[in-house]
Amino acid sequence: MANVFAKRPVVLTRGKGALVWDINGKEYVDCTGSYGVALLGHSHPKIVEAVQKQAERLISCHAGFYNDMRTKFLQKLVSITPKGLDKAFLSNSGAEAVECAIKLARKFSGKPEIIAMMGAFHGKTMGALSATWDKKYREPFMPLVPEFKHVPPDNIEKVREAITEKTAAILVEPIRGEGGVRVPPNGFLQGLRELCNEKNVLLIFDEVQTGFGRTGKLFACEHWNVTPDVMCLAKPVAGGLPIGVTVAKESIMSALKVGEHSTTFSGSPLVCAAACAAIDVLLEEKLAERAAELGVYFKAKLEDLQARHRIVKEVRGLGLMLGVEIRFDVLNILLKSMERGVLVLDAGKTVVRFLPPLVIEKSQIDTAISVLDAVLGEEENARLLGAPSN
Ligand SMILES: Cc1ncc(COP(=O)(O)O)c(C=O)c1O
Repeated sequence: MANVFAKRPVVLTRGKGALVWDINGKEYVDCTGSYGVALLGHSHPKIVEAVQKQAERLISCHAGFYNDMRTKFLQKLVSITPKGLDKAFLSNSGAEAVECAIKLARKFSGKPEIIAMMGAFHGKTMGALSATWDKKYREPFMPLVPEFKHVPPDNIEKVREAITEKTAAILVEPIRGEGGVRVPPNGFLQGLRELCNEKNVLLIFDEVQTGFGRTGKLFACEHWNVTPDVMCLAKPVAGGLPIGVTVAKESIMSALKVGEHSTTFSGSPLVCAAACAAIDVLLEEKLAERAAELGVYFKAKLEDLQARHRIVKEVRGLGLMLGVEIRFDVLNILLKSMERGVLVLDAGKTVVRFLPPLVIEKSQIDTAISVLDAVLGEEENARLLGAPSN
């Protein structure tokens, strides 16, 4: 495989709920959730059953033909998406969901310019990358798609100044994930909505990481009662199978005409069967509510750690999308936590990020906290003594 992933020295072979096991049988509490994909827990029995059944009926069916399972999924999907967002394009990843949103905005408005936020992450294909902020992702691939610009986040006036007669859309993550788990100040997303209405510009929310219950609501925009014109989803929507979803108001999505956008795997029956089961599980197990409740518990425990360890600068997040900002590079914390049986993510250089399955149990959160407590203590001592920490 191309050497583009920063590999961790572990071979994972099995998972159940919020636990995974490596090839030697060692158990880990998975607070990465495969980068937010395993939101229902690893190998949820309802997903396994749905995939097994559908695999025996029909695995592939190009979207040039109708398919019963795709129809069923689309109906379930638009029954949970914010009101009015009821026309969907199905793809295979978050970046693709964003690509479709960008093309749709340009086609609908007849204008080229997309305004994104400094610190944003929208994926790494050329269009999505043009909206992504971090120069380490962008610079090796210049020139990117023209007419993208970035403005300081959480500042309505800066967005207002940036809008021109060429602006098609504003693209924003309701809570920035890769950018350090940053929740916007109250009023920012409402302000964007009002500004977009006033200037006749589309509002696109990238809910690839925040969507599907993760933050304690089905979609993070619901925390602020703001409905975008276009919304991007991906990661957990098909219970672990690859999917991207771009959902928009019908009046907007109809701007894309036959042939103007497509992908071979769009809405494959196998993926749609898994996604139907995923929506059922999300609603039946009340996982958004669970994320809200456990998020409060987890965050309070992280704040206790902040009180105990001077190297912790800040605890941020909503529901089970949490981040802990450390006063230095977190790579050692990731590796040492793994040695002790807890998998965590980074978000930029200095933030430890938690995207656990929403089915995680309190006792598993406690395990993660006690491991982090020990690792932070070790790191703190090493820094105080001025010694290398490994
Ligand atoms: C907010 C957001 N948008 C888009 C993407 C890109 O998704 P993918 O990696 O599936 O292309 C990600 C991935 O982490 C993301 O967090």
